[in-house]
Amino acid sequence: MQLKEEFVGKKKVDAKIFRAHFLASIKQSQESKVDDLANKRVGVFVLVVILVGVLAAAIGVRAGVYKKDLIAVAHSTRCLVSNNEVVKEFVRPVFNCELCRNTSRIERIANISRQEFLEKYAYGTVPVVITGAANGWKALDSFSYLYFKNLYTKDVVVMDDIVQGCQFINWGYHFDSIEEVFNMTDAKTKLEPGPGDDSWYVGWADCHPKTSDELRRQIQRPYFLPEESKTSSSEWIFMGWRGPGAFLHIDNVRLPSWQAQISGRKKWIFVPVLECAGICKDKYEVIVEKGDIIILDSNKWFHSTFVLPGDISITIGTEYD
Ligand SMILES: *[C@@H]1O[C@H](CO)[C@@H](O)[C@H](O)[C@H]1NC(C)=O
Ligand SMILES: *[C@@H]1O[C@H](CO)[C@@H](O)[C@H](O)[C@H]1NC(C)=O
Ligand SMILES: *[C@@H]1O[C@H](CO)[C@@H](O)[C@H](O)[C@H]1NC(C)=O
Repeated sequence: MQLKEEFVGKKKVDAKIFRAHFLASIKQSQESKVDDLANKRVGVFVLVVILVGVLAAAIGVRAGVYKKDLIAVAHSTRCLVSNNEVVKEFVRPVFNCELCRNTSRIERIANISRQEFLEKYAYGTVPVVITGAANGWKALDSFSYLYFKNLYTKDVVVMDDIVQGCQFINWGYHFDSIEEVFNMTDAKTKLEPGPGDDSWYVGWADCHPKTSDELRRQIQRPYFLPEESKTSSSEWIFMGWRGPGAFLHIDNVRLPSWQAQISGRKKWIFVPVLECAGICKDKYEVIVEKGDIIILDSNKWFHSTFVLPGDISITIGTEYD
């Protein structure tokens, strides 16, 4: 407490006013938005997992590839399903499986034109990787665990706001908040965990005006996005070491997203929704390298990620329309 007072010092009054505004705006956006995204994601995901499980069992569709994952997760998180999500899942638009009927793999494309991106991929719902699209971004040099630690912990008021107002996902790892992520011992942050060591992977929305201004100086708008498309108001950052990242899930966000791989390498696995079994492949995999940007409609595909050995994986991305 002492430290906090001292640290904030003269800026305290300003900060208080700012904070009041910030919290009010967060509250408002949370009330007007359907609900908290973290909840939403976990809720939808669990619900879909259960529905898919039940449907698959009932009608004997070939869900063999991912049944194991789905069941494992359903068991661990079942209690989080909310009624709201049940309703939403029933109104989810049916995926047009024609879109992936002839898709044998996820493309990795370099140097795509805006026009081609718009025609083939922007809203086409099949994921694509645009290689090297983040090359030249400052983030490639600046982003690291320590960069984010400094960004978030240098101002306790900002950290408090972020803990209270921005969404955080621990993907089953032991962190309860972003504050804990940046409070771990040095040994854990610096070294790549060896086999059997304690790995970790987390994600959070940077929804604070102060930190997102700084973050946006490190990144650029992906060059291939349609000129008129708008990106959403906060970026999502995902960070973690070798090992499982996001578990297999489907989102309930309105828009497609881009995600830039700033450090490390990540394998993505996509599994088509149940209605496409037999039309599309059972599973698609693609590796996203440092400097690549992946485009996906996370609302239309089950997806999971796996951080490959090497550097810490750090990504940043957002939704676009
Ligand atoms: C898929 O491929 C078949 C055979 O090559 C073709 O007849 C069909 O039009 C293709 N469908 C789509 C959606 O591209
Ligand atoms: C990218 O494509 C444009 C036009 O198609 C071309 O002029 C340019 O040389 C290409 N750049 C690279 C690095 O391939
Ligand atoms: C940070 O770590 C210290 C020492 O391990 C602990 O006492 C403190 O409660 C931790 N704070 C948070 C927010 O996790």
